Amino acid sequence: MSLHTVYNASPNINDGTKPSRECVIRLENVWVTYRAPSERIGSFKEYAIRWMQGKVKNREFQALENVNLEVYRGEVLGFIGHNGAGKSTLLKLVARVLKPTRGRVWVKGRVAPLLEFGAGFHPELTGRENVFLNGAILGFTRDEMGEKFDRIVDFAEMWDFIDAPARTYSSGMWARLGFAVATDVEPDILIVDEILAVGDEAFQRKSSARMQGFREKGATILIVSHNMDVIESLCHRVVWIDHGQIKAQGDPAEVIQEYRRHQNP
Ligand SMILES: Nc1ncnc2c1ncn2[C@@H]1O[C@H](COP(=O)(O)OP(=O)(O)OP(=O)(O)O)[C@@H](O)[C@H]1O
Ligand SMILES: [Mg+2]
Repeated sequence: MSLHTVYNASPNINDGTKPSRECVIRLENVWVTYRAPSERIGSFKEYAIRWMQGKVKNREFQALENVNLEVYRGEVLGFIGHNGAGKSTLLKLVARVLKPTRGRVWVKGRVAPLLEFGAGFHPELTGRENVFLNGAILGFTRDEMGEKFDRIVDFAEMWDFIDAPARTYSSGMWARLGFAVATDVEPDILIVDEILAVGDEAFQRKSSARMQGFREKGATILIVSHNMDVIESLCHRVVWIDHGQIKAQGDPAEVIQEYRRHQNP
């Protein structure tokens, strides 16, 4: 039984796109517990001594608590909630970057994850090498990626920097290249964690046009954003996460309104 508020999701928003009833992602009674040190230990030596003495104190943190969620093919699902609510943690489960501590995560189809800044790219590799590495992770051969390469770099407008190590990139540059790779490969499920916000205006326009295109082609999209306009204009359904739990879900306008009321009482 779910205890959170459920609003009727509008099955047919503005542009007439409509999710199917085929479930492609299912989370069943999912819990994620992180263990983190509860105090700062200055050096590795000190850490080793404390560890041998059995004095390293770990704090357990419940990032997700008993989350149940089903996502349908063709659905654009938005996640909103305060900093630290557990949104990125949930997306990492779907991207299979993280395993749940308890419960089950089931995903059908090829997932292209655009996780938070920094995830997905290796800082010491060049942009070019990262494009090929990402392609390999998504299941493409070197030749297949070779065919896509020029188009990806064109879209990201990154020719001047493509052979520099990724650690020298600005956050917008990481986001551009990551978005260009993930969306060129036409995934079944696209995961976009807040990354669009760091692109400049021109790139934001370009990337939202591409997302719209995906949407029309029936891809499933999970998107996290603190920009409620983006969420409301793109999503069929919105899930509000609060302290690791789903607080409400359903119609975007209604869920956003309730979230705002909660934030500014
Ligand atoms: N690797 C980790 N080790 C310990 N705690 C973590 C780890 N990753 C996340 N957390 C904690 O889990 C909680 C949920 O984090 P998460 O990144 O999912 O939040 P979020 O909703 O994406 O927030 P934001 O809006 O700031 O991106 C936070 O309290 C965070 O401190
Ligand atoms: Mg996050």
